[in-house]
Amino acid sequence: MTKMNAAVVTSFDEPPHYQQFEVPEPTSDDQLLVDVLAAGLHPRVRSGAGGTHYTSTGELPMIPGIDGVGRRPDGKRIYFVAADHVLGTMAEKALVDQHRSVELPEDIDAAAVAATMNPAMSSWVALRRRVRIEPGQSVLVLGATGNAGTMAVQVAKRLGAGHVVGAGRDADRLDALRSFGADEIVQLTADPVATDHALAAAAAEVDIVIDYLWGEPTQRAIVALLSTRADRSRALDWIQIGAIAGPTIELPSVALRSANLRLQGNGQGAVSGRVYLEELPSLLDEVKAGTIVLAPRPRPLAEVETIWAGTDTPGERTVLVP
Ligand SMILES: NC(=O)c1ccc[n+]([C@@H]2O[C@H](COP(=O)([O-])OP(=O)(O)OC[C@H]3O[C@@H](n4cnc5c(N)ncnc54)[C@H](OP(=O)(O)O)[C@@H]3O)[C@@H](O)[C@H]2O)c1
Repeated sequence: MTKMNAAVVTSFDEPPHYQQFEVPEPTSDDQLLVDVLAAGLHPRVRSGAGGTHYTSTGELPMIPGIDGVGRRPDGKRIYFVAADHVLGTMAEKALVDQHRSVELPEDIDAAAVAATMNPAMSSWVALRRRVRIEPGQSVLVLGATGNAGTMAVQVAKRLGAGHVVGAGRDADRLDALRSFGADEIVQLTADPVATDHALAAAAAEVDIVIDYLWGEPTQRAIVALLSTRADRSRALDWIQIGAIAGPTIELPSVALRSANLRLQGNGQGAVSGRVYLEELPSLLDEVKAGTIVLAPRPRPLAEVETIWAGTDTPGERTVLVP
């Protein structure tokens, strides 16, 4: 058996270890083996490696990593989504389903692609495929200080939003959102009533909410926005994407009866793999043009165990390089 170096999860209570692993073999004509050039360390990768993501099967050992940039045997570079839950992308080699990959344009930076595609794809698909944004519409991004939220501000503006409100906790990162296109910012503070008022004042009339938080902040925000909205029969599209502040909310039934609240999610399952694939080329064009891009922080895969304990500097995403 041929071996390769890989990040390997052997227990959900430990970080991945850098060790030898059998090189996977394609099991169908649609699969091929690529040399991995870069793989992003996204929150979704951490939850998969911790066995807590909703797609986790509990199977171990596993190689973490859900996407990456690789080089095909014909020399072409591709961006791809992992073909398997257990055999991920944080290894020297990875299996690619050819239907879940796209060739990269020349001279695009592999690390920038690996850093950006996952956080940017969530809002890109949400605003193009779940609720197609119309020019001039207004958007609230809940959890805008995270990387996916910051990208959502950029994406909303790029897709024609007239007014974007960014809401999050960290004051410095909130300020920085203006340079990404936010027209207004709202700080989510430890004072829930003051936060409700501030959110309602800034965002009661928005058309679309892109929500990375869920949990208590979302529960309060839904009520705060709807109870202040001038015309509650005007649609409010709420797109649930992340649950960084909690997995559940309590939703008063009246919120659905007394207003035109349209609640839906965006993620694996809610959107088919085919749709994600269709959207990859247009998003790659934006990354190449520099209009939507997150700064990559390339680090050696060999140091995965120590890197795992750290957190990203805001505005950057760690990318592991074999
Ligand atoms: N469904 C999808 O397709 C998809 C795609 C990408 C990401 N996601 C999900 O979206 C979420 C965010 O991802 P990300 O890439 O932006 O992560 P990230 O860069 O690590 O940012 C997370 C941010 O959440 C904020 N936060 C944490 N706890 C909070 C709380 N209790 N209340 C308010 N804000 C809180 C923090 O900012 P402050 O300290 O400033 O508050 C932090 O910067 C994750 O749950 C991720 O899994 C989903």
